[in-house]
Amino acid sequence: MTAIGKILLLPGDGIGPEVMAEVRRLLHWLETRRGVAFTLEEGLIGGASYEAHGTPLSNDTMAAAMAADAVLLGAVGGPKWDTLPFDKKPERGLLRIRKEMGLFANLRPALVFDALAEASSLKPELVEGLDILIVRELTGGIYFGEPKGIEDIGNGARRGVNTQVYTTEEIHRVARVAFELSRKREKRVCSVEKSNVMESGLLWREEVTTLHAAEYSDVELSHMYADNCAMQLVRQPKQFDVIVTDNLFGDMLSDEAAMLTGSLGMLPSASIGAEDAAGRRSALYEPVHGSAPDIAGKDLANPLATILSFAMLLRYSFDREKEAGLIEEAVRRVLGGGLRTADIMQPGKAKVSTSVMGEALVRELDKLEG
Ligand code: IPM
Ligand code: MG
Repeated sequence: MTAIGKILLLPGDGIGPEVMAEVRRLLHWLETRRGVAFTLEEGLIGGASYEAHGTPLSNDTMAAAMAADAVLLGAVGGPKWDTLPFDKKPERGLLRIRKEMGLFANLRPALVFDALAEASSLKPELVEGLDILIVRELTGGIYFGEPKGIEDIGNGARRGVNTQVYTTEEIHRVARVAFELSRKREKRVCSVEKSNVMESGLLWREEVTTLHAAEYSDVELSHMYADNCAMQLVRQPKQFDVIVTDNLFGDMLSDEAAMLTGSLGMLPSASIGAEDAAGRRSALYEPVHGSAPDIAGKDLANPLATILSFAMLLRYSFDREKEAGLIEEAVRRVLGGGLRTADIMQPGKAKVSTSVMGEALVRELDKLEG
């Protein structure tokens, strides 16, 4: 069987390796049942890489990521590494790979599965059928802006600095992704910033407006301050279709939106770069949830966010709509059949482990495939 492409698996820390093991189960199923095979590589990132190499991302792993057609990541971080200096922290590995792969657009869907509407912290009628896409800028803004650092200013006092900075080009390229994606949805984009207090936010609003007028006037564009958006997300979340926002606001608003869906453990994400001459984009897929060190190694974690990230990888990096759809349908059926990992457990349902959830998915896939 010839492989259709190369995938780099980066399980990372905490529950990362456990949930990635369930993806391997699906990879095996795809190969044996559908003849879809990949060249697989595996590497270390985050605390796991720090333990092995003294750095959260080695140059070798970085090179492997650049050479792969797609990267699938588990999660990074944990209390064990919280006291390390910034350049050694697990999170730095993630930031480096995003930056060096040029992954400027982070797509974070917040989708409510019918079977889970009851598990949301909001009333079911507010979230039933919810389907929002947050497009978060990922390689700029205050995460990377200069100057930054902590300096001594005498008399035992210090000063901490980070810089929020955006250019026209950075704003246009991420807004373009949001407008394009909205055309396959409800054609509504809400651009979010704090243009009432931040110059970079005002530039954001102006540049999004200019691009919209020039190229995307068929899409409905609205603007919202980030604090209001945080409030509207819990008040009336279904008012949104696509939200486009900067790196920091996107980090926070996507956690908030994720919680609306009933579980952070359900949500996939994709981070994409610019198109190359052949029309391919570099891409990294990862669950929205973190490394959950408190439950790591206990076979308790919900593997579905990583599995749904893998479905996104099949769809966007390899055009495998059929296989992506099969996996998503299997997830719906397993949930519909009442299986729940601890994080989405509801009265009257069957609580299952990470691996039992993975096995159940494969059984559903077998049924779907006949
Ligand atoms: C996320 C995470 C990361 C971020 C951390 C782990 C660096 O919170 O992907 O949302 O802040 O971007
Ligand atoms: Mg976050």
